[in-house]
Formats: sequence, structure tokens, C-alpha cells
Amino acid sequence: MYDILDQLDEKLKKVTSQEDIKQVKSFFLGKNGLITNLFKQLSSLSQEDRIQKGKTLNELKQFVTEKIENKLQEIKNAKKQQELSQEIDLFLDGNTPNLGSIHPINLVIKEISDIFFSMGFGIEDGPEVELDLYNFELLNIPKNHPARDMQDTFYIDENRLLRTQTSGVQVRTMLKKKPPLMFIAPGRVYRRDSDLTHSPMFHQIEGLAVDKKIRFSDLKGILEVFLNQFFGQTKVRFRPSYFPFTEPSAEVDIGCVICGGKGCRVCSNTGYLEVLGCGMVHRNVLKNVGYEGFRGFAFGLGVERFAMLKYGIDNIRLMFENDVRFLEQFSNSFYSKGLV
Ligand code: PHE
Repeated sequence: MYDILDQLDEKLKKVTSQEDIKQVKSFFLGKNGLITNLFKQLSSLSQEDRIQKGKTLNELKQFVTEKIENKLQEIKNAKKQQELSQEIDLFLDGNTPNLGSIHPINLVIKEISDIFFSMGFGIEDGPEVELDLYNFELLNIPKNHPARDMQDTFYIDENRLLRTQTSGVQVRTMLKKKPPLMFIAPGRVYRRDSDLTHSPMFHQIEGLAVDKKIRFSDLKGILEVFLNQFFGQTKVRFRPSYFPFTEPSAEVDIGCVICGGKGCRVCSNTGYLEVLGCGMVHRNVLKNVGYEGFRGFAFGLGVERFAMLKYGIDNIRLMFENDVRFLEQFSNSFYSKGLV
């Protein structure tokens, strides 16, 4: 009997799983188990011995059963404990929801706006369905003016159209507010135009500053700071140009972002890329809004073009197809992290 208890102790010591316990149980109490067999031997004893031994055997059986049960419980508890400790592992990575990323157009609008905000510009807005009056007329582009040809337009009726430029916001804001003024106006514009670098709907950012003594050199300084911040250290060149609502007018080029100014296919071997239009607000425009005695500068740029040049995007349509493989490339931007 003591031999049995020693064996039990030894076996239970080695047990590590519920499967092991099953085996121990069957070793002692199964059909051919050690204890079962002892019960079988009882029949050959005298009645008195049988009663005596039977009682002892039953006690032994109960003791062994209890010990095995206890060990089983111990193993189950240990397992549960282990599972529990895993469940509440505070350092376990959670399932991070996919938050998507900022669209390159919004990204560039934010990047550009932040630069101008840092220089003291405010922000203004205007409608996309615009009056001919604001889109053209008050900007010194009367009906039948040849400059209208440059902006083939979507008309809604004779007086209303999808705006072709954000310049209308200049007029709207000047009619609404008193000078001095300094703001940018980002927004969607529409033109009949469609190829690798043009889309019938695209985004512009307009800029306007009006005060008593604004000079062309102010415009130059502001744009040079802006372009150097946006593109990184770059050459900036002003070329005389024409816009009906500015005089003098200029087109602004930066050193080619592809070849660094050596000359390549993208810059037609000039080493420069045109990026925006600007000029001193035409006095007819100032007169139209009752701003006599004031001077101002204005500029306008295409957001898609800036995005394409900065991020090396070679087809404008990528920006409107919503292919996540393209969009997620902007997920590392600091504007995608929800910080701003
Ligand atoms: N509105 C002009 C365009 O769309 C750009 C521009 C804005 C030029 C302001 C000068 C001043 O081409």
C-alpha cells in the first residue's frame, strides 16, 4: 500500500497536463489499474479479511482519487491563470484602425496655407458657381475680351458659370471688407482642359495683399520666401507676362525640380519650370471695388501642379482615381497623423 502511495507521489510530481492526469488515473483506477486489481483479489479472501481489506482499499481508493482530482484542479487553475495573464497584457498590440491618409491635394493646400499664415495672411472663400461679374467683369475682363479665350468656360446661363479662377474671391472680399487686406483663397476651379497635366476640375490658391504702399518688391520677397519654403532651396525667376487684372504682371519660374537646372525634357531644356502667375492689382480693379488710393499685389497658383512637382507625380489623374496604393503613400505626412 505504501508502495502505491509512493508511486502516486512520484507520478503526480511529473504531471504537467490534463492528458498526463488521465494516464495516472487509469494507471491506478482504470480497468486494469493497480487499485482496481487489488479489489479483484478480494474475492479470494475469507469474509472477515474481505471486509477488513475492503474497507482499507476503499479508503485508499478515495485518497488516491482525491489526490488526482486535486492535481487536476491545480493544473486547470495554472492554465487559467496563464490565459488570464495573457488577456490583460497591457503591452499587447491592439488592432489599430486604418485611418487612411490625407489626400495630396489637401496636403499641399495645408502646406501652402501654413507658410502664408506664418507670414500673416488670412484666408477667404468664395462660391464655385460664380457670377460672370466676379469671375471676369470686375477683374477687368469685359465681355468679348480675348483673355476669356484662355479660360474656356462652363456656363450655367448667361450670367453664371463654374468659376475658372479663384481671382473672383479678390473682388468679392474687397467689396466686403475695408483695406488693408492680406489673405489667400484656396478653392476648386473649372476649365475645359484635359491631358496628362490638366484636368477640367482643379484647385487654385489665390493671394492678395492691399495697403497704401505695397510694392512689386513686396510681392517678390513674399513669393521667394514661399517658394523656398515649399520646394526647399530653389532658384526663383520672374518673367514679364500678361493678366488683365494685374499690371505689371509676371510669371514665376523655379529651378527645374527634375534636372536641378541643367536642362531636361520636363523643362524643355530651359532649366526652369513655370509655377504661378502674379502682378500688381490693376488700377481698374481697385477702382471697381472702390479702393482708390490703395495698391496691392496678387498671385494665383495651381495646387495640382505644385503637388506634382513636389511629390514627383507624373499624371494628374492619379489624384482623382482614389487608388489607395497611390493615396497611402502620403500616410506618413505629418498632416496625416491628425496632429494638425
Ligand atoms: N487667375 C490667374 C490664372 O488663373 C492667375 C493669377 C492670379 C495671375 C492672380 C495674377 C494674379 O491664370
